[in-house]
Amino acid sequence: MRIILLGPPGSGKGTQAALLRDQHSVVHISTGMLLREAVKNQTELGQQAQQFMDAGELVPDSLMLGLIEQRLGQADVTNGFILDGYPRNLSQAEALDTVLNRIGQPLDGAIAVTVDETEVVERLLNRAKQEGRSDDTEDVIRNRMRVYAEQTAPVAGYYDARGQLRQVDGMGSIETVQQRLVETLGTL
Ligand code: AP5
Ligand code: MG
Repeated sequence: MRIILLGPPGSGKGTQAALLRDQHSVVHISTGMLLREAVKNQTELGQQAQQFMDAGELVPDSLMLGLIEQRLGQADVTNGFILDGYPRNLSQAEALDTVLNRIGQPLDGAIAVTVDETEVVERLLNRAKQEGRSDDTEDVIRNRMRVYAEQTAPVAGYYDARGQLRQVDGMGSIETVQQRLVETLGTL
């Protein structure tokens, strides 16, 4: 399995990717998690990325390319992967194709998880109370949604144009969405 999960903040990409990872013994690559780790450890990347993340803006492509190349170059990727949070714009989608071709691991496709905005704001404000993610404040959540609509939503068209896009309704319980994803995976 070599797939991308697309979807706005709070659509459940991370939650669903973790479940799929456990079922299929593939790696879950979340660029958001990798960046949060870098910020926590105050690496050079973390220091450069933090201001963008705190504002809900995309971290510059030049920084992201190094990160994703490094992660996809690791040995565990050969069993398959679920990408969560990458690619976030068309230029990242093109860069990803180049890297995947180089390592001989072409994509099966991308699944776009769709949700209602009011529901996801509620989910993220709820997560803020549990996990304390610094970008889960209402203002920053709204900006992440705006950035998603403007820069990330067009990525779905990139995969649709080559017949590699599927859509899954992300509303409902975690189990219901997982079931839909499993069914949809069979069509890729
Ligand atoms: P990232 O970490 O990718 O954040 P995001 O896209 O905003 O998505 P979230 O993690 O908030 O949502 P999710 O879809 O994973 O939902 P989750 O499963 O957690 O990116 C963070 C930042 O890093 C970006 O803003 C940017 O600055 C930077 N960045 C990352 N990648 C980048 C890139 N490629 N280029 C440039 N910059 C990049 O679920 C949310 C909550 O809802 C959880 O509490 C969960 O328990 C709950 N939940 C999940 N499913 C359900 C359900 N079905 N019903 C009820 N609750 C549910
Ligand atoms: Mg996530």
